[in-house]
Amino acid sequence: MKKEIGEAKAHFEKILTEQLQRVKELKRSGGWIDYNSLRPLIIGIIGGDGIGPEISIHAKSILEFILKEEISEGKVLLREIKGLTIENRAKVMKAIPDEVLEEIKTCHVLLKGPTTTPRKGDQWPNIESANVAMRRALDLFANVRPVKVPEKDIDWMFFRENTEGAYVLGSKGINVTEDLSIDFKVITSQGAERIIRLAFDYASKNKINKVTVVTKANVIKATDGKFLAIAEQVAKDYPNVEWDDWYVDIMTAKLIDPSRQSQFRVIVAPNLYGDIVTDEAAQMQGGVGTAGSANIGKKYAMFEAIHGSAPRMVEEGRAIYADPSSMIRAVVMMLDHIGYTEKAAKLSKSLDICGLYEKKLQLTGRSTGATGAQFAAYIMETLKDPKLEDRWNKFQN
Ligand code: IPM
Ligand code: MG
Repeated sequence: MKKEIGEAKAHFEKILTEQLQRVKELKRSGGWIDYNSLRPLIIGIIGGDGIGPEISIHAKSILEFILKEEISEGKVLLREIKGLTIENRAKVMKAIPDEVLEEIKTCHVLLKGPTTTPRKGDQWPNIESANVAMRRALDLFANVRPVKVPEKDIDWMFFRENTEGAYVLGSKGINVTEDLSIDFKVITSQGAERIIRLAFDYASKNKINKVTVVTKANVIKATDGKFLAIAEQVAKDYPNVEWDDWYVDIMTAKLIDPSRQSQFRVIVAPNLYGDIVTDEAAQMQGGVGTAGSANIGKKYAMFEAIHGSAPRMVEEGRAIYADPSSMIRAVVMMLDHIGYTEKAAKLSKSLDICGLYEKKLQLTGRSTGATGAQFAAYIMETLKDPKLEDRWNKFQN
């Protein structure tokens, strides 16, 4: 027994040292990157694996179409990054192979296809999720996920903390003995503050008078307790933004309560709760395939599909029928983030028209429906329509 406790203590000591170091770095971290000052602004496109390469080709051609001038003027550069596949990652036993990470770091913003996360019992070794590793490596602390269901008056913006919580040491838990397993959850004052502040900033800039903080602080007292306490402090800087706090269990219930759901607007949560409630929310919008997700840090930003790599679709030869909508939604968020607000709005409207309103093409994920390429062509055609605005407006009640 002594031996096991000794080993666990040493492990814990190492974790503490690393995390205290991280706090130091957080305290030193600089300001936000200015995309206007970059020439060229480099957009990395990471295909990922499973259906990822397939749907990211469509996202890329749409980007090329929308940024045609900027690309030819040398203002924007698209860089394709291969090699973030489960096969490569398994070969070097790393969540992100070193040379891939290096290439990623030569870009300013990234568009990322889904990447397979190994799970117990499958054919892959137990390496960490590439998403989780990238969010940490690039310090992408904010996972921003919008969900809209106009007919239910739902207009939610989720700010999920993306670098701490149950995730940061998710692969560093310990099996102390055969019978005792312990994981760690981490919240730092700095980590909580920056995500909560971003949520309040967003609310205040967009004149949204409601921020909801989600925790389980009644039970998880140290970490969630800190998150909530920091929220209380940050809220004082935004006297014009009302805020409330909910425990994650009742929050998941209220999100589907018709008499309540539309009152939520901006929601901020630690990592795991944010993960869970954003899937729930995306489902209400039409499924996780319909949602985009922005991973934002002060230096880098990465935009991705919220769903997984769907290996089964590839095995069954159905990858060409995969719905590229969520990746194209990610393109919208990217364009917005780097300052091409108007282009973002146009693409967003085209997506609405093609995927939600007109639906001239149906994507079923099989040969009974359209292919991703056909759908991408439909979107580009719509984008070219000089009457795009009118066409979209017709569908607004
Ligand atoms: C997400 C995903 C990831 C997460 C998985 C793939 C590790 O579910 O982006 O929400 O849990 O963060
Ligand atoms: Mg998730």
